[in-house]
Amino acid sequence: MRKAGLAVLIASLALVLVLSGCGKKNEDSGSGSDKVYRIASDATYPPMENMDKDEIVGFDIDFLKAVMDEAGLKYEVKNVGWDALLESVKQGTEYDAGISAITITEERKQSYDFSVPYFESTNMIMVKEGSDIKSAKDLQGKKIALQSGTTADELMTDILGKDSKGIKRFESNALAFMEMDSGGADAVVADIAVIQEYLKNNADKKYTGILDRDSFTSEYYGIAFPKGSELAEKLNPAIKKVLESDKYKEIYGKWIGGDPDMTALLE
Ligand code: ARG
Repeated sequence: MRKAGLAVLIASLALVLVLSGCGKKNEDSGSGSDKVYRIASDATYPPMENMDKDEIVGFDIDFLKAVMDEAGLKYEVKNVGWDALLESVKQGTEYDAGISAITITEERKQSYDFSVPYFESTNMIMVKEGSDIKSAKDLQGKKIALQSGTTADELMTDILGKDSKGIKRFESNALAFMEMDSGGADAVVADIAVIQEYLKNNADKKYTGILDRDSFTSEYYGIAFPKGSELAEKLNPAIKKVLESDKYKEIYGKWIGGDPDMTALLE
């Protein structure tokens, strides 16, 4: 009887040890290689990111996949919209990072950590063919549709003044294009790849793109992280590898067309 009792005691002790050991192991793998990183995006900005039925597609999405594969990390991307993306990545509770053609700016660096730059861009003005608008300065007194909180917003607010009545700000760039289509705006200002994609898909609308390098200089996209994130350090080497690879050129050719100018990115 006493022997049996002891055996049961030993057996249950062993069970407790095994179970608590398992518990530890699960915790470890949860914060280790099995972690699924959550990435936020505003998928209304083709060809950079856009919804195709219920899937997010675009340059950024293929680029992110190449980087995460290179780094050996699991992730999922969610379309949350621009304002929510900026806010939630800043808070750092719900998302580990944001990818969304996000320009690295001095101002944003106060609130976010950024990866190394992975894409060169600039803003472009879209107007009706034959318009008297030839440069950013000509937008004085005109109605300009743009996505609020973007570099286009920042630049046009600088050029036209904070109180300018001409700037019509929208929650997404798709809405800015719609405003132009319905005659509510004389111009849309947005990233060059996005304007060029729109021109290509809407040839019937007789719009044209204006490049004004005096007012709009080069911008560089980065992946945005909450301040102090460790993920940035993990991803930078992977990003550099992808930038040097043929994969980057392939993704660029697929979504943007032609060959990328890598000079500034590989510096
Ligand atoms: N590059 C511009 C910026 O950072 C526009 C980005 C907008 N991106 C988007 N997915 N809507 O301000």
